[in-house]
Amino acid sequence: KQIVILISGRGSNMQAIVEARIAGAQIAAVISNRPDAAGLAWAKARGIATLALDHKQYASREDFDAAMQAAIDAFQPDLVVLAGFMRILTPAFTRHYAGRMLNIHPSLLPAFPGLHTHQRAIEAGCKLAGCTVHFVTAELDHGPIAAQAAVPVLDNDTPDSLAARVVQEEHRIYPAVVAAFVAGKLQINGLRVQIQD
Ligand code: GRF
Repeated sequence: KQIVILISGRGSNMQAIVEARIAGAQIAAVISNRPDAAGLAWAKARGIATLALDHKQYASREDFDAAMQAAIDAFQPDLVVLAGFMRILTPAFTRHYAGRMLNIHPSLLPAFPGLHTHQRAIEAGCKLAGCTVHFVTAELDHGPIAAQAAVPVLDNDTPDSLAARVVQEEHRIYPAVVAAFVAGKLQINGLRVQIQD
């Protein structure tokens, strides 16, 4: 199965997926909306095709998404993986990849969609925080949930210390979901996702 991974920064989730060496998965390309994304250099050094489409070069969100879609489809992916990809996607783009585009969000959705999730969890007095891998739909951070992992929020946590605990779980559950998808074990029923064991 061909996989294209989209990043915007360090790409630690992309790295975890590459290093998992998932059977049956071929990382066809790593694409970023930021030419300076550190993950691009990491992927290139491993011989993975990389591409940067600077979203600032496009007149509109629609133009950028159309260019991204053309670039992605050139690799004919079975799965598109958003990994630290910090762009809101147009409904047309999410529709085009319906059922075959995943995202990881650093909260236990549906709690804390959007940004600054760790700070919000701490300020809300949460005892648990975590991450969610979900299929991407037109509604931001609200698609069918494939996997979640919870971590404790400690009294002395800062957003950074909590993020460091959560991201370890991201690097565990994201490769597991990608492997399940590649093995054809994910069944989407409405907002529910069943993973055949
Ligand atoms: C992570 O917190 C991830 O949950 C969010 O972006 C952050 C950076 O991800 N999507 P990465 O290290 O670039 O994969």
